[in-house]
Amino acid sequence: THQWRGVIEEYRPLLDIPEGTPAVTLREGGTPLVFSEWLSGLTGAEVWLKVEGNNPTGSFKDRGMTTAISVAKADGAEAVVCASTGNTSAAMAAYAAKAGLKPLVLVPEGKIAAGKMAQAILHGAQVIMVRGNFDHCLTLARQLAWDYPVALVNSVNPMRLEGQKTAAFEIADFLGDAPDYHLLPVGNAGNIAAYWLGYTQYHSLGVTTRTPVMRGFQAEGASPLVTGEPFPDPETKATAIRIGNPASWKLAEAARNESGGRFAAVSDNQILSAQRELASRDGVFVEPASAAGIAGILQELAAGESYAGSTVAITVTGHGLKDIATALEGVGALVDTVIDADVTAAAQAAGLA
Ligand code: F0G
Repeated sequence: THQWRGVIEEYRPLLDIPEGTPAVTLREGGTPLVFSEWLSGLTGAEVWLKVEGNNPTGSFKDRGMTTAISVAKADGAEAVVCASTGNTSAAMAAYAAKAGLKPLVLVPEGKIAAGKMAQAILHGAQVIMVRGNFDHCLTLARQLAWDYPVALVNSVNPMRLEGQKTAAFEIADFLGDAPDYHLLPVGNAGNIAAYWLGYTQYHSLGVTTRTPVMRGFQAEGASPLVTGEPFPDPETKATAIRIGNPASWKLAEAARNESGGRFAAVSDNQILSAQRELASRDGVFVEPASAAGIAGILQELAAGESYAGSTVAITVTGHGLKDIATALEGVGALVDTVIDADVTAAAQAAGLA
């Protein structure tokens, strides 16, 4: 028996990274593709959830960090930098710790979920809060990497997409072909670009017979790909995708155009309600941003769109435990039933007696 080796060793011949790069890995990838009885029932399609919260640091970012950090380490970097809404910094800090590199993180002040902040700090990152949003942080990170000896590992680093495209390989490997549709949340737009890279690569190699239609969902208050204009002041409770000017804008548009797909916006209420429904119906707890694709398919169904008879993959990008404050905001009173340790009282409180 052997365990999953991480995305570099599982897919090395398919990755455009320097030959022989030693892998810095936490055994990321190999995440579950979970059949959704709930959404399959609603759509008449086969709906599969790619549960990326099962990665080592709880989001899909680990796939891109194993490649970016491995290559930075092999290049002799001593320090790495990223701008982040939280998950990238958590993943970077963990892989930098594993590689013995110094992690430097730039985040928007007050807009990072506590779980993600804890990860960055515990993994040893130097965390700098910026008065501004993610877009400002990314500009700073690029400038720092340009002027100082620190390697940039945001998804503008092509090594990131090489790692992240493996999620598309895994889905196609499992399903036996590419799905008809692929839905996912979009923020800085690196992930949709990476999936498209993976799907088109498998198709051109003849591993799959088709590529999916790509549908990307953004939060209404941060939906530049939907409106076609940057948002100077992006705002959403789904802080992971609170981004006004995505770095991979062009690549995301190419993925949409080439796949015959589209972008659409969903409200914070739709996102938070999709998060709760997914948790209570399918048993999958994701962070708010990760539910944007679920909110998206529900919105389309309500508008009369049909997925009947097709195979649909939806990426849920990060774990629900990352941001429990936002998750609990929407549920009102917490557990308010308190009893003495008495079985009659328990039965009465539970409505059994
Ligand atoms: N979902 C989650 C949970 C994310 O953390 C992100 C991005 C996305 C979706 C969107 O992916 O940017 O490739 O379009 N998080 C970045 C970060 C920005 O800093 O952690 P994208």
